[in-house]
Amino acid sequence: MEASHGTAGPPAGDLRAVLTQLITSAETLAAVGLALTARSGDLVLPAGLADRVMAVATAVGGDLDNVDAAQLKAMGSLARAMLAQAAAFSANPQEPAAWAVTDPLVLQMLGQASAAIGPAIHDHVIPRYRGVADRLAAPDARVLDVGTGVGALACAFANLWPATTVVGLDVWPAALDLARANIVRAGLVDRVELRQQDVVTLADDDSYDLVWFAGPFIPESSLDQALAAVAKATRPGGLVVYGTFGGADPLHQALADLRVLRSGGPIVTDDAIGERLRAVGLTDVVNVGADIGLPARFVAARRPHTAHR
Ligand SMILES: C[S@@+](CC[C@H](N)C(=O)[O-])C[C@H]1O[C@@H](n2cnc3c(N)ncnc32)[C@H](O)[C@@H]1O
Repeated sequence: MEASHGTAGPPAGDLRAVLTQLITSAETLAAVGLALTARSGDLVLPAGLADRVMAVATAVGGDLDNVDAAQLKAMGSLARAMLAQAAAFSANPQEPAAWAVTDPLVLQMLGQASAAIGPAIHDHVIPRYRGVADRLAAPDARVLDVGTGVGALACAFANLWPATTVVGLDVWPAALDLARANIVRAGLVDRVELRQQDVVTLADDDSYDLVWFAGPFIPESSLDQALAAVAKATRPGGLVVYGTFGGADPLHQALADLRVLRSGGPIVTDDAIGERLRAVGLTDVVNVGADIGLPARFVAARRPHTAHR
């Protein structure tokens, strides 16, 4: 038996050191999550324990003094929720991901993180298609956000393209309640419409200049039906952007695939997504992944200008 193939990764003897580092990371995340939550005022810890978790947060360089209580609470919730999900996965690997994250703060943090997809599409996808920027600046421009969650990305779309009307679809009432409040807070009630609707039942034809499709959340069993529905809902010349998790290196790609699997969606290569977009009549497939500064990758395609009604 060969001891090692010797091409990639640390020698086998280093596995213990890697494991020790990972255990430190998990324990650090636990302590920092508690420190943030305690500092926000949302959790009371015994004095000695509070001091010790704060010492861990300080040691990793976190400056808790210049962050307001709401942000501390949100970040603490996110850290603790992610760790809890990882622990639940480790204990019960066969259970689906905690999709029903019910803590509103965690949903808001996840939504806010997804809002960065808007500028990435604006900067890296739209310029690849002649005429689409103009369409999105036109007074009748419309954007569809499939899997709108708490509406953070829908609001980002509305702000990036101030002429557009955005329609956000979701099947989850709890997320839509938060989305409604977010849209009011953002002053976008007149421009962002929310619908509790499964994407497979979408019956809008020739209606959108840009469709964002949250790929990791749409199960394989209904994916082709969902893609056919969004292709039909796209205006001739408009774009569908299929997004999924991605990673810049093997570890982050492996974690991305795991996240997709646990989110209920299919693990698909960019080429396979492109094929499926072509199969529903879309063309000009473009893959956008590297260098967008997000743990995500996009496959975009255009509805042909000659599409018939
Ligand atoms: C990660 S969230 C999207 C986050 C979102 N960008 C935000 O700003 O909050 C994905 C959403 O897709 C929704 N979803 C899952 N299946 C769906 C379906 N068949 N049709 C519409 N939405 C769906 C889920 O309920 C979930 O809220």
